[in-house]
Amino acid sequence: MTDDVLTPAQLDGIRSRVRDLMPQVRADLEALVRIPSVSASSFDQSQVARSAEAVAALLAAEGLEVEVVTEGGRPAVIGHVDGPEGAPTVTLYAHHDVQPPGDESDWTTAPFEPTERDGRLYGRGAADDKAGVMAHVAALRAHAGDLPVGLTIFVEGEEESGSPSLETILERHGDRLAADAIVIADSTNWAVGAPALTTTLRGGVRVVVTVRTLDHSVHSGMYGGAAVDAVTALVRLLATLHDDEGSVAVAGLDSGEAADLDYDEARFREESGLLDGVELIGTGSILSRLWTKPSITTIGIDATSIDKASNTLAAKAAAKISMRLAPTQDPASAFEALKTHLEGHAPWGAKVEVSLEESGPGFAADADGPAYDQARASFADAWGTEPVDIGVGGSIPFISSFVERFPEAAIIVTGVEDPDTRAHGANESLHLGEFEKVCTAEAIFLARMGALRAR
Ligand code: BES
Ligand code: MN
Repeated sequence: MTDDVLTPAQLDGIRSRVRDLMPQVRADLEALVRIPSVSASSFDQSQVARSAEAVAALLAAEGLEVEVVTEGGRPAVIGHVDGPEGAPTVTLYAHHDVQPPGDESDWTTAPFEPTERDGRLYGRGAADDKAGVMAHVAALRAHAGDLPVGLTIFVEGEEESGSPSLETILERHGDRLAADAIVIADSTNWAVGAPALTTTLRGGVRVVVTVRTLDHSVHSGMYGGAAVDAVTALVRLLATLHDDEGSVAVAGLDSGEAADLDYDEARFREESGLLDGVELIGTGSILSRLWTKPSITTIGIDATSIDKASNTLAAKAAAKISMRLAPTQDPASAFEALKTHLEGHAPWGAKVEVSLEESGPGFAADADGPAYDQARASFADAWGTEPVDIGVGGSIPFISSFVERFPEAAIIVTGVEDPDTRAHGANESLHLGEFEKVCTAEAIFLARMGALRAR
């Protein structure tokens, strides 16, 4: 490309600088992973404070003006450095908190002891999202002392807990986050060797549904047969949430069609670990089922456990339901639809109560314009292959607050993950070869954005 904003020699320079930086970037990533910064409130929150301090120190070492801000939630780190006069501005987002490790016995090596196996770095947060943090640091280091853009970095400490204080942070510090482009490094690529921009995410609604059938629990021999226990009524109610094909049966939910990328059932089975003989649920293309149609999952049940069971009709049972929404669905109307469904399908007149736990909107990017052009070009420079636009079935609810607050900014969702990352699961890992490409792409993106001004 002769009219490109960067010369091949400039691109090669960035590629080789990032390659040289990777050993230190990797060491700093490992140090972050060793801090068990689980933001869930039942975990030691002093570790979240420690990880905020560690991130702040990394940014200060790159010459940024850094502040750790806590606005009623967990500490976030904001760093800033001015760019050349008149240069575009870029804000980089990642989060330093992590999901709980789950059952440590499911991990091959300890969750907070980063360990390399077969080109992957294992550990909680090794990908989601401490590698996102380090990709930003790597991009800064690649331009040490000569940053081509004005840059702000925002590293949140509670994304995995639904960003409860983000609105307050935006109210009090939002002006500092305004930029021409906002890069949110918290998603996935399409495959190893296949970079992607995430242009849609699903929204979500989480509820607890409680079912009561009796005033108190009673002997199942004396009353079973004429009175129904609450667990059986709950299970029957949950069964109404899908039709026979496994499509969501709640009326009034939006549903869309995903782009037609090559993704077959064999790949889905391989990546999801669906057991042989277990059928897929839903209809339409698999990607539509994952990215643009609603889904409903029962994520927890409160009922008598098997070891405590006796011959008793339970009076009460409850389930936690996680519903994913089409990217443009309004979560409030989705909650109403789910509540109406559950209340309207109470079996045998069982008492049903639905309470909203959490909800958040999806995201559908305005995926063009100069910043998107340069993002796509940077990915192609780093991987040697054009990126694809993908949807993601998961949610990053706070993005909608950014869209609202910074309507002029190009919001670009990138990430370090690949289909084998197992974010949130046991044995989460980062593909180290892909990670270098993510760092290279981001460093090139900053150079490209800076070069736009010079044209
Ligand atoms: N990074 C994920 C979102 C994601 C999932 C991106 C899968 C790409 C692929 C994010 O940290 C996340 O897990 N979000 C939560 C919602 C949040 C409110 C806890 C989710 O989707 O469950
Ligand atoms: Mn994440």
